[in-house]
Amino acid sequence: MSSPSIAVLISGTGRNLQAILDAVANGDIDASMAVVISNRPDAGGLQRASEAGVCIEVLNHSDYPDREAYDLALAEALDRYHPDIIALAGFMRILTPGFVTRYAGRMFNIHPSLLPKYRGLHTHRRALEAGDAEHGASVHYVTPELDGGPVVLQGSIQIRSQDTEASLAQRIMREVELKAYPLVLKWAAAGRLRLHSDGVYLDDKPLTAPLKLDDVNLITKENR
Ligand code: GAR
Repeated sequence: MSSPSIAVLISGTGRNLQAILDAVANGDIDASMAVVISNRPDAGGLQRASEAGVCIEVLNHSDYPDREAYDLALAEALDRYHPDIIALAGFMRILTPGFVTRYAGRMFNIHPSLLPKYRGLHTHRRALEAGDAEHGASVHYVTPELDGGPVVLQGSIQIRSQDTEASLAQRIMREVELKAYPLVLKWAAAGRLRLHSDGVYLDDKPLTAPLKLDDVNLITKENR
């Protein structure tokens, strides 16, 4: 059986995209890259995809009259590449239920908070304002509820007293996001991850709670 293909949707810098491209290139994720699609023509991630030799498409949301029309065009563009897995990596759009349902069970997102805390925007600011001791990021299946799909993997870091929104975002990107997303996509590409009506299964075992990045790192080290 040939390895699955991954489509990545982006809106910006593409640091998560880069981690995925690197993991595919070095064989860590056993998959091929189908396409990278951006809703913004100026997204920095487009350059990263081009440099990696991956097909890129720009579907500018401002060219479409409404969300339904945009998501239809997006689905048409995606389907031309027949991706097995769709990864939202900083894709800053609310998706219509029709779009989400079409890719149910094979679309993932990374969100910069310890879901279910802080769905939506400005997660780092909100964690700082709330005086939280820790903050992090979550990789989850996409369902019609915004940032509400079942979480597969989460990683957290301690918030420091001197942290700013920017410093916190940067550490979470480096220490959590860039590690967590390739891991989940590696499992998905290997067919080890499933979404059933009662939740997420890894290796046919139900996840009773989101996996923790630290625990996974520990297990991986012990198995070396
Ligand atoms: C990342 O921090 C990602 O978690 C976040 O946008 C950033 C994209 O950065 N996504 C969301 O907030 C989605 N709700 P990147 O383009 O450099 O990967």
